[in-house]
Amino acid sequence: AQNINLAVIPGDGIGPEVVAEGLKVLDVALGDIKVSPTEYDLGARRWHATGETLPDSVLEELREHDVILLGAIGDPTVPSGVLERGLLLKLRFAFDHYVNLRPSRIVPGVQTPLADPGEVDFVVVREGTEGPYVGNGGALRVDTPHEIANEVSVNTAFGVERVVRDAFRRAQARPRRKLTYIHKHNVLVHAGHLWRRTVERVGQEYPDVSVDYLHIDAATIFMVTDPSRFDVIVTDNLFGDIITDLAAAISGGIGLAASGNVNPDRSAPSMFEPVHGSAPDIAGQGIADPTATVSSVGLLLEHLGHADAARRISDAVVADLASRGDAKRRTSEIGDALAARVSG
Ligand code: IPM
Ligand code: MN
Repeated sequence: AQNINLAVIPGDGIGPEVVAEGLKVLDVALGDIKVSPTEYDLGARRWHATGETLPDSVLEELREHDVILLGAIGDPTVPSGVLERGLLLKLRFAFDHYVNLRPSRIVPGVQTPLADPGEVDFVVVREGTEGPYVGNGGALRVDTPHEIANEVSVNTAFGVERVVRDAFRRAQARPRRKLTYIHKHNVLVHAGHLWRRTVERVGQEYPDVSVDYLHIDAATIFMVTDPSRFDVIVTDNLFGDIITDLAAAISGGIGLAASGNVNPDRSAPSMFEPVHGSAPDIAGQGIADPTATVSSVGLLLEHLGHADAARRISDAVVADLASRGDAKRRTSEIGDALAARVSG
C-alpha cells in the first residue's frame, strides 16, 4: 500500500481543533493507504516563544513532504502582517503555490443570504504568487503628512500564463466549460491587458471553453445577483482574495469554505487549508465547525489522485449539511459524523 507523507501545521486558535477532525476523516477515507503525519509547531505560540515565524530549516523539512494540511494562522497578540507575511505567504511563495483553488457551491440545508440563487457550483482559480502580494513596495516620509506608500502589483507573462492555463484546463474538464476572467483592465491597464492578451492567446488552444470577462466591481454584483453564471473564475491574487470571501459568504460562510494552495507542477508540496481564520474568540471551546477543514482534506486527496476518497468526503459533507437542522454539535461530533459517513 502507498504511504502519504503528510506535514500538519495546526497553527493558532481553532486550528488544532479543526485539524484533528480533518485527520480523523482523512484516516477513514484512505482505507489501505497509510498516512504518516508530522506536526509542525508554527504560528503565534512559536513566535512569542522564539521570535521565529518560519525558520529555513523547517521550510526545508516541509519541502520533503507530499502535502501539507494547515489549520489556521494568526492571533490578535501578534502584530498584523508578521505571521501573514512571515509564515502563510512565505509558504505560498516558497512552494510556488500559483493556483489558489477555492470551490464554492450552494447545497441543500445551508443558509445563504440570497433569496433565489439557482444552481451555484463554481471554482475560483486565484493566482497565488504574484500581484500586490509580492511585497514590492515601500514608503517614504512615513507617519508624516507627506507620506507616500506604494504597493506595486507584479504580473509576469510567465506567472499569468501558467495560472490562466491551469484555469482553462479545469474549465475544460467541467461539464459547462466556461471560464470567466476578472480584472480591472479599464483602469489597471498594464496588468489588465497582460491578463486579457494571455487569456485570448491561451484560449485559442481551448476552443471548446467559452470565455467571458468581468471587471472586479461588476463581478461582485453578479456574485450576489446571479452567481449561477459562474463555472471557473480566474483572477489575480488580490481580486481573488476578495471575490472568494464573497463567494464563501453566499454559499454558507467562510466556516464551510475549503481551499488548496496548489503547485500544479509538483515541484514542491501543495498546502490545503480552510479559508477561515483562527477565530480566537471561540478557540479552545470545541465548538468550531470543522467542515471547511474536512472539505480541504477532500481537495488534498483529489490533488494526490485519490479521486474516489475525495468524492466520498464531499458526499459526506453534502449529506451532513443537508441533515443538520438547528442542533448545535460540537467540533468532534461533526467530525465523528463525517467520518462515519465516509467509512460508509
Ligand atoms: C486568505 C487570507 C490571507 C490572504 C491572509 C491571511 C494573508 O485572507 O487566505 O484568503 O490574503 O491570502
Ligand atoms: Mn482572504
